[in-house]
Amino acid sequence: MKSNIVLIGFMGTGKTAVGLVLSQRLNRPLIEVDETIEKIAGKTIPDIFQDDGEIHFRELEIEAIRMAAKGEKQVIACGGGAVLNTINIERLRLTGVIINLTAAPKIILKRTAKENGSRPLLDVEQPLERIKELSKFRKPFYERAADITINTSKSSIDSAADKIIDRLKKYEGFNL
Ligand code: S3P
Repeated sequence: MKSNIVLIGFMGTGKTAVGLVLSQRLNRPLIEVDETIEKIAGKTIPDIFQDDGEIHFRELEIEAIRMAAKGEKQVIACGGGAVLNTINIERLRLTGVIINLTAAPKIILKRTAKENGSRPLLDVEQPLERIKELSKFRKPFYERAADITINTSKSSIDSAADKIIDRLKKYEGFNL
């Protein structure tokens, strides 16, 4: 029986915020994959990208997800690019239900602009264009990985968490 709740989706779709609410409501630990990566590397994500490059970051991400997927009854918030390596989804799927959060590019821009500089992939002249391009490229990866999809464009964090809990209650083979 699966017992992890795994949040995937593009940057700024609410994975961390919704993950926090789910972890509090369901009394489960929140595993923030980006935080684990920063701990393993001993530096921030922008510094990993700058010093070691994206490929190295993706290797650390594979390791952090491998460790997270071993646990039970957790909420796991992944980084937006976790879906790009199939091995991550294969491992997460063994122990968890995968929830894909989506949002419109303009909303993503608004949300991510608040934390300027923390996301190297959006640290460009034309962030909206970058969001649109990357989302288009990644869409099939998110859709293939998802067991459940929730659009957070118009939802508050609490109502997105409510929707997820409702869907999980009805999800066969999941231990809520
Ligand atoms: C990334 C998303 C980020 C972080 C890194 C790369 C991506 O996480 O892992 O900057 O490739 O989409 P969030 O989705 O939590 O911002």
